[in-house]
Amino acid sequence: MAAMAARAVLPRNVILVGFMGAGKSTVGRLLARRLGLCFVETDAMITAREGRSIPEIFADRGEPYFRQLEAEVLEALADKHGHVVATGGGFPCAPGAMDRLLHLGTVVWLAADFDSAYARANRVGGRPMLAERTVEEAAALFRVREDCYRRAHLALDTTHMTVDAVVGRIVRHLRERERTGRPAEAFAEGPPSLDQPARIGERREGDG
Ligand code: S3P
Repeated sequence: MAAMAARAVLPRNVILVGFMGAGKSTVGRLLARRLGLCFVETDAMITAREGRSIPEIFADRGEPYFRQLEAEVLEALADKHGHVVATGGGFPCAPGAMDRLLHLGTVVWLAADFDSAYARANRVGGRPMLAERTVEEAAALFRVREDCYRRAHLALDTTHMTVDAVVGRIVRHLRERERTGRPAEAFAEGPPSLDQPARIGERREGDG
């Protein structure tokens, strides 16, 4: 029932972007279930095609080859409708990639702060982009990437939010956008400018 109600207000796709450890996979899986949509991860599309893990791809062929695979996955996303897509942390930052994503659906930036994203990514492991970087270098990568993520339609500071609260907030805002044709509350119309991102994420009673 909840899924049916949500389906009536769906954008074409919902695309999650953000740094490693921001929670894109966890949030994406639950969001897809809530919306009655399919869930797909760009990393999983790559590992399925290659038949080996992301760390193995990096070790065997290097980052440029991995980015080439991401570009091929981006092409494949053009055929998708009704999907929640969790992207790899570097996926939207390739030249032209964010422009494409912004046309494929509603792009949501899960903007956890660096310390919590970094800690989570390291705890889970399997991140070759962090393996050979000092914490300072990883923080520099985070800052560079933010300029790309900032172009998302919606930005949500998830640092102090539960997964349920994040999903609830995204669903609520998707509904609002559909109902009014405009973003709700703090959402800006269209891709936000660099100095004025459409940011939500202030905590409220009942968010968990
Ligand atoms: C990468 C992030 C990873 C994965 C690959 C490269 C990156 O995905 O695509 O290891 O460049 O930030 P997650 O963001 O899911 O960790």
